[in-house]
Amino acid sequence: MTDKTQVRDPGYRDAMGRLLVLYTQIDKLIMEVCGEKIVSAPDESAKLALAKQVGDESRHVSIQRQWVKQFGTNPAPVISPTQEDQIRDHFRKLPWLDFLADMYVCVEALGSDAVEQIVPLADPGTRESLRIPLTDELNHIHFGISRLKQELAKLSASERHKFLDGLPGRIDKISRALHDLGLNLPGMFEAVGANYNALRQGVLARRDDLLREISAPIPQP
Ligand SMILES: [Fe+2]
Ligand SMILES: [Fe+2]
Repeated sequence: MTDKTQVRDPGYRDAMGRLLVLYTQIDKLIMEVCGEKIVSAPDESAKLALAKQVGDESRHVSIQRQWVKQFGTNPAPVISPTQEDQIRDHFRKLPWLDFLADMYVCVEALGSDAVEQIVPLADPGTRESLRIPLTDELNHIHFGISRLKQELAKLSASERHKFLDGLPGRIDKISRALHDLGLNLPGMFEAVGANYNALRQGVLARRDDLLREISAPIPQP
């Protein structure tokens, strides 16, 4: 049997280990935040989608925890408990529409985009550990973006424009908050073989695609 944990160099292994722990911590936070949101979600279809997502994220946490253990890297948290509290608190306070924007555009869609860009550079074991989570994330993104579009369609034209005009600023704010966590993301991404600038450009292009998609009217049957 080949050892799936055999990787090229210690720098790669440490940095990939840190990114995997970060991804696991974020999935766990998403699980908790979505679990809390079930009660105040506006209708049953939203509650069911959130509950399904809680189950998916729980599975992602188990898969990643198991893989980090096998990978043999430092399992210590990357985000501190205080930072975790701040993130939970941010999402807890958000009204439904803002929750959809921050959770599904910023965290799920743009976060997954960054992870997907890492997949081709990753060792086989890490790639395999990301297969199920990244497939589920596509469903979460689909729910969040289509639900956001439905909610926007219910607003008056001026309210909709106001929200859409503020959306790039919301995305920038979350992105700044992520960098303010002091994680040295550029260093971690470069150490696993990514070109951080190209990765950033890829995420920005995805952001522009999402903004176009969200602004486009829902096609009438
Ligand atoms: Fe996940
Ligand atoms: Fe997700």
